[in-house]
Amino acid sequence: MVRTPNGITYLAPYVNIVCMCFDIAVYFQGFHPEMTVWRSTKTRVILSTDTVGVRGAAMHNILETGLVYLCGNSAKAKQAVGEMATKLGLTVLDRGSLSAARELEDFPLRLFQEWRLPLLVAIGLIAFFFFYLLIRDVIYAAVEQDKNISYRIMISLANKVFPIVSLIMLSLCYLPGVIAAFLQLYRGTKYRRFPDWLDRWMLCRKQMGLVALGLAFLHAIYTFIIPIRYAVRHKLISTVVNEMKNNKTTPFYFDDTEAWGTDSFYVLGILGFFLYVLLGLTSLPSVGGTLSWREFSFVQSKLGHLTLFICTAHGYIYGWNKFLRPSTYKWYTPPGYMLCLIVPSIVLVLKFLILLPCVDRTLTRIRQGWERTEPKEEMVMTKATNL
Ligand SMILES: Cc1cc2nc3c(=O)[nH]c(=O)nc-3n(C[C@H](O)[C@H](O)[C@H](O)COP(=O)(O)OP(=O)(O)OC[C@H]3O[C@@H](n4cnc5c(N)ncnc54)[C@H](O)[C@@H]3O)c2cc1C
Ligand code: HEM
Repeated sequence: MVRTPNGITYLAPYVNIVCMCFDIAVYFQGFHPEMTVWRSTKTRVILSTDTVGVRGAAMHNILETGLVYLCGNSAKAKQAVGEMATKLGLTVLDRGSLSAARELEDFPLRLFQEWRLPLLVAIGLIAFFFFYLLIRDVIYAAVEQDKNISYRIMISLANKVFPIVSLIMLSLCYLPGVIAAFLQLYRGTKYRRFPDWLDRWMLCRKQMGLVALGLAFLHAIYTFIIPIRYAVRHKLISTVVNEMKNNKTTPFYFDDTEAWGTDSFYVLGILGFFLYVLLGLTSLPSVGGTLSWREFSFVQSKLGHLTLFICTAHGYIYGWNKFLRPSTYKWYTPPGYMLCLIVPSIVLVLKFLILLPCVDRTLTRIRQGWERTEPKEEMVMTKATNL
């Protein structure tokens, strides 16, 4: 093992050239199949070795986290590089063939690539619901009741937009899973690739969930400051003072149903939020890494659906008896919480269908490798015969 003045350590017999970019590394390798090429910058190390004259391996150190990505076509070369990296105290992650190294080259230069779609969805939904609720609440009050309640934009409106978008985005984390399940049922096999759009959607569920969690956090914080708001305190005090002045009192009877309703509403909100946070915690590498695959998928999938169920129930109880009141439909438009219950309800109904024993049994068999369609070899044979 040799250490160069710029601090790179390498296996001496393998290394011939230190170069500055992956393309040059590949270029040099083209001269001599057994040539070994290194690339190094302050934050990244790409190493390519060639042991048997086929192709080598590339190692990519991402932002000095101690985690290195290893790519290569030669298993022997990969093993050598992997062993060397382990000796250097790095953690090696196999990322496939040498051609994948080119993709890893761009990794440090990427700007929120996996976050783009979730962030676009969040911004789009926030903008839509903000203007929708602005028209329904503030502009409606100004036009129809001649009241200026624009101050509500800051907290009341925001505290509607955030949980609405959060609930929709939470359901968007679980919608691709049910679509995938129905696709597998329809195709009768798990060995066919999902369409690209579904693949992309499934790959950004983590980011989608974390953005949704952020919005749920905002909802929780906004909710807890409701009692200390000037507008709320003013309304409460002026109602009491008005009643005293007019020598009137609100009928003081205890509505049992109302008590159950509001308590259930808050409990569902709190439990939903607790499970939401749990999902967020397990998605941290330091926590998720300590869980087995089964434990992780139990938390993410089973508890995730439970979270969606609880949060949806929280939304339904919020609607309670308002669903049937004509005054709810200002300018014949449904309120935001009603709109945000559509996607979660669809996801939950589809998930319920998947959980039915007859469907679940078939799906489990498909996931275990069983195929309803002809085996692949037979299919190839049939095609060849037809040709
Ligand atoms: C706060 C928060 C954090 C999150 N963090 C993460 C995270 O860190 N990582 C992450 O991936 N997601 C994360 N998510 C998103 C979501 O919780 C997960 O993607 C969850 O696993 C989805 O569950 P699912 O059952 O819908 O999908 P999956 O379990 O992925 O299943 C989807 C479909 O794939 C197929 N399938 C499943 N298992 C098999 C099998 N063994 N063989 C063949 N086919 C199979 C089935 O058709 C199934 O319906 C997070 C969400 C939130 C809200
Ligand atoms: C700490 C836990 C929570 C508490 C205490 C809580 C409490 C509340 C309150 C008081 C309201 C009424 C707000 C208003 O009238 O302006 C509300 C509405 C709502 N909450 Fe929660 N909530 C919690 C968590 C959640 C979570 C995790 C979700 C799911 C994303 C959620 C989704 C909703 C929705 C969709 C509404 C209706 C918004 C509207 O149109 O007014 N809540 N919640």
